[in-house]
Amino acid sequence: SDRLLVLGIETSCDETGVALVRCLPGGGVPALLAHALHSQITMHQAYGGVVPELASRDHIRRVLPLTEEVLAQAGVPLAAVDVVAYTRGPGLAGALLVGAGVACALAAALGRPVLGVHHLEGHLLSPFLSADAPEFPFVALLVSGGHTQLMRVDGVGRYTLLGETIDDAAGEAFDKSAKLLGLGYPGGPALSRLAEQGDAKAFALPRPLLHSGNLDFSFAGLKTAVLTQAKKLGAALEVRKADLAASTEAAIVDVLVHKTLAALRATGLTRVVVAGGVGANRRLRAQLDAACAARRVRVHYPELHLCTDNGAMIALAAAMRLQAGRQQANSDYAFDVKPR
Ligand code: KG4
Ligand code: ZN
Repeated sequence: SDRLLVLGIETSCDETGVALVRCLPGGGVPALLAHALHSQITMHQAYGGVVPELASRDHIRRVLPLTEEVLAQAGVPLAAVDVVAYTRGPGLAGALLVGAGVACALAAALGRPVLGVHHLEGHLLSPFLSADAPEFPFVALLVSGGHTQLMRVDGVGRYTLLGETIDDAAGEAFDKSAKLLGLGYPGGPALSRLAEQGDAKAFALPRPLLHSGNLDFSFAGLKTAVLTQAKKLGAALEVRKADLAASTEAAIVDVLVHKTLAALRATGLTRVVVAGGVGANRRLRAQLDAACAARRVRVHYPELHLCTDNGAMIALAAAMRLQAGRQQANSDYAFDVKPR
C-alpha cells in the first residue's frame, strides 16, 4: 500500500514527545495513531527555569522508552515506520541534538529516510489534529515561549509573515511577569490560574504598539511596568497579587486579540488559527472567540493537550509536508540542528 507511517520526535526544550501518524500521499489530514509525552517541568522547577544540560540528559533517558510506548499503543512494529521526523529547531542545541541523533540512528538502522521539521511549523499545523480542522487560507497567531508572530497561511509551506514581536515573546511576557510575582516556573499557566481570582481592571498596564498601525508586537516594557507596580505596592503586593496577575494577563491578551483582528482586516481572511503554548490561555480564547463571533470569523485551536510542545505536531507537520510535496525525506543522515 502507499500509506506512510511517520514517526515524529520532539526534544527542542523541556518536553520529550514521540508520536506516530499515518497519511495517504494523495491527501486527507493525517491520522494520529498514538502519542506519548514526558514533561520535565518538575525536574526544572527546583531551578526556576529550564537547565539546558539537564534537559538534554533527560531527553536521552526518555526518548527510546517513549518510542516503544508509542509503537506498542499503535500496535505497529518499528520496522513498519516509513519516515522518521524530528524537530530540527529552533530550540536548545543539546536538546535538539538528542532528537536528531536518535531519529537519524533509528532511520539508518531501518534503512528509511529522515525529515527535519521546523518546530513552529509543528505548532502552526497542530490544529489540523483537532476534530474541527481548519481549511486554508487562514491567519495564524503563533504564540509560544520563544515566538509571537502573525502569519498569512495559504497552504503547507506557504507562509507570509505579517508581523512579529520586536523583543519578548508573549509566552516570555507571561513567564517573566510570573517570575517577578514569585509564581515560579512555568509562569504562564501559574499566572493565568492566579489571574482568575483577580480584577483585570485593577491596574492600568501598558499595551505596547496597540495603535502602531502595523502588526508587530512589543512585550519587553510590560515586565518593567509589572515590576514598578509590584514595588509600589510593597507589602500590599501579597493581597493584590491576583489583581496584578489579572491586569498583566489582560494587557497581553488585549494586544494579541487587537492585532489578530487587524491582521484579519488587512488580509480580508475570515479564519484564524491560534497555536503555541499561550494558545492554551483561557482569557485569550474567550476574548478572541467573542471578538471573532461578532465578526463571523472562525477560530481554530489545537486540542488543549497539543497546545504546548508534543511529538504529534512534529509527525503531523512532516506528514503534511510530504503530502504537499514541499519536502523530500532524505537518507544521508547528515543530521543538523538549527537552534535559532
Ligand atoms: O509552545 P510552547 O510549549 O513552547 C515553546 O515553543 O516556547 O510554549 C510555552 C509557553 C510558555 O511561555 C508558557 O508559559 C506559555 O506557553 N503558556 C501559557 C499557558 N500555558 C502555557 N501562557 C499563558 N497561559 C497559559 N495557560
Ligand atoms: Zn513550542
